[in-house]
Amino acid sequence: MKLVIAPDQDTACAHVADMLYTCCAQNPAAVLGLATGRTMERVYGHLVRRMHDRPVNLAGCTTFNLDEYCGPVARTAQSYRAYMQHHLFRHLDILPTQTHLPPGDTDDVTAACARYETAIRAAGGIDLQLLGIGHTGHIGFNEPLSSFASRTRRVRLAPATRTQNAEMFGDCPDDVPQHALTVGVGTILETRRAVLLATGPGKAAIIARVTEGAISPMTSASALHFHPDCTFVLDEDAAMDLS
Ligand code: F6R
Repeated sequence: MKLVIAPDQDTACAHVADMLYTCCAQNPAAVLGLATGRTMERVYGHLVRRMHDRPVNLAGCTTFNLDEYCGPVARTAQSYRAYMQHHLFRHLDILPTQTHLPPGDTDDVTAACARYETAIRAAGGIDLQLLGIGHTGHIGFNEPLSSFASRTRRVRLAPATRTQNAEMFGDCPDDVPQHALTVGVGTILETRRAVLLATGPGKAAIIARVTEGAISPMTSASALHFHPDCTFVLDEDAAMDLS
């Protein structure tokens, strides 16, 4: 696990945007694993500006997002599909058919999750996986006690995660969906390269636990110690509890 500590949030986000840009510029058939959440909004802002300044042909590029809420919300403005459309996809020359999110509104969860895994494999696997981290230590929506071998599946969100994500639901944690589809920890560990971005003092404690504490399914992100090529990009606030 490598660590990059940037002086501030904007520099950290620009660094991660650079990694995504370079991946697409160097490989016309790049397969990106993408994340949502507040941390990534600034990353996508930088990436869009970079793509506009020096366009890259994305005709052969494919994306797979980590997660999506379950139920009818997956078809609304609060969905992660809508987030991705708003912050990234509508600004890029990329076909909707090349962008994938777990289908949170499916009737057949087991079949849909198996198809998602198959689609990732059929695309050749993920070249660069972007990750945020939740206060529970989740990556994707792999909450505590997720197996390190887990695959795409339906999960119940931890109360702390529903509180963390309440902003999009009128600041009411009870209105945040209880379930989501997420790729598994095992799926994430198979990606060729991973970058986890954490910014702000609110992430300092969980970053210290993940990087310096026990490797345990109680903290899903600690599985990244087993990833062959994983970089944590932090700003100084998120790094402040490191010894
Ligand atoms: C979202 C995802 C989550 C978030 C994490 C951090 O697609 O995979 O793991 O990255 O919850 O969210 P923010 O950035 O809002 O703190």
